[in-house]
Amino acid sequence: MYRVIQWATGGVGRAAIQGILRHPELELVGCWVHSADKDGRDAAELAGEEPIGVAATTDIDALLDLDADCVMYSPLLPDEQVVMRILRSGKNVVTPVGWVYPDRQSPAVQAIEEACLAGGATLHGSGIHPGGITERFPLMVSSLSSAITHVRAEEFSDLRTYNAPLVVREVMGFGLTPERAMGGPIAKLLEAGFKASVRMITDELGFDTEPRIRSTQEVAVAVHGSDELVVPMEAGTVAARRFRWEAIVDGRPVVTAAVNWLMCDVELDPPWTLGEQGERFEVEITGDPSVSLTFKGLQPETVAEGLIRNPGVVATANHCISAVPYVCAAEPGIKTYLDLPLIAGRAAPDLARGRQIG
Ligand SMILES: NC(=O)c1ccc[n+]([C@@H]2O[C@H](COP(=O)([O-])OP(=O)(O)OC[C@H]3O[C@@H](n4cnc5c(N)ncnc54)[C@H](OP(=O)(O)O)[C@@H]3O)[C@@H](O)[C@H]2O)c1
Repeated sequence: MYRVIQWATGGVGRAAIQGILRHPELELVGCWVHSADKDGRDAAELAGEEPIGVAATTDIDALLDLDADCVMYSPLLPDEQVVMRILRSGKNVVTPVGWVYPDRQSPAVQAIEEACLAGGATLHGSGIHPGGITERFPLMVSSLSSAITHVRAEEFSDLRTYNAPLVVREVMGFGLTPERAMGGPIAKLLEAGFKASVRMITDELGFDTEPRIRSTQEVAVAVHGSDELVVPMEAGTVAARRFRWEAIVDGRPVVTAAVNWLMCDVELDPPWTLGEQGERFEVEITGDPSVSLTFKGLQPETVAEGLIRNPGVVATANHCISAVPYVCAAEPGIKTYLDLPLIAGRAAPDLARGRQIG
């Protein structure tokens, strides 16, 4: 059994605890919480499960002293100093907050690599978008094609289920004027991860791209005001956003990662929609033959359902948790999808080999 510590119990962290409890090779042995009012509470209970006798703590030193194989690191904001302390303490790290395809020339990345080697530990960056749909699955599908001219990974989401008003308004810019939204922090926050994922594809497929990855963003505004949404929205304020990151060869895109976020059911100007297929993620390889995939099920069936538990958040947690046995078995250092074997999920406990019923 691999002994796992869960770091933070937000949406991803709570789903990760559920994933650890269901995984036949994993055992939850510790849990870091940011909020003082969660200190001392049972970690499984925080995730809505039966108590298991593992108390959550705000005490980082106590967790670093714990005998554990891996930390699932999913706080709101990553802290590189903390990640390096975890690695130096000899614990592997899986995380959806970065390092999917880090720039090995960067001194900050080299410092992380050194921490890995000092602790004999491995760091793996995962997720869904980026961290899965953006690069892992396009790379897998690309092997079915030859003479590839374009790779696209694109998200189409209804933002009404994102129940974090402060983030939706102040970080993502919904309900703000187009000028304020376009000048806000989200484009920069997104682009570090997405550009790295685009670069992972160009490097592995061998495209002769320009060094600069082109970033574009567009907004659509609400035609009418509304007080029914997660943030109050006046007419003329931002109700939908599109971001694109493109690797270019000879002036044309060869790899594209894109995000489309709409407050659906709001009349938009321009009149964007998610299209007939609704919420989804798409992966498309243009080559011989051209192959496309549409991922359904990673977004909630209804707004009400999504406000309680979002399948995209759960999938993000699972993608990390599924990687734990492979990451624990890997050599020390930062390991990307290109370095690790195929990462798979696990059978439901009542269908698994060696199951105990009753
Ligand atoms: N790559 C992907 O595809 C992907 C997808 C989804 C999310 N993510 C990332 O995963 C992370 C967690 O997402 P989430 O949906 O779980 O977020 P969330 O629900 O907002 O929860 C984040 C948790 O972080 C902790 N926290 C709050 N303020 C903090 C601070 N100042 N410093 C450190 N920790 C703080 C809290 O932990 P406690 O409640 O334990 O006190 C909080 O519950 C985010 O960084 C997000 O960007 C990535």
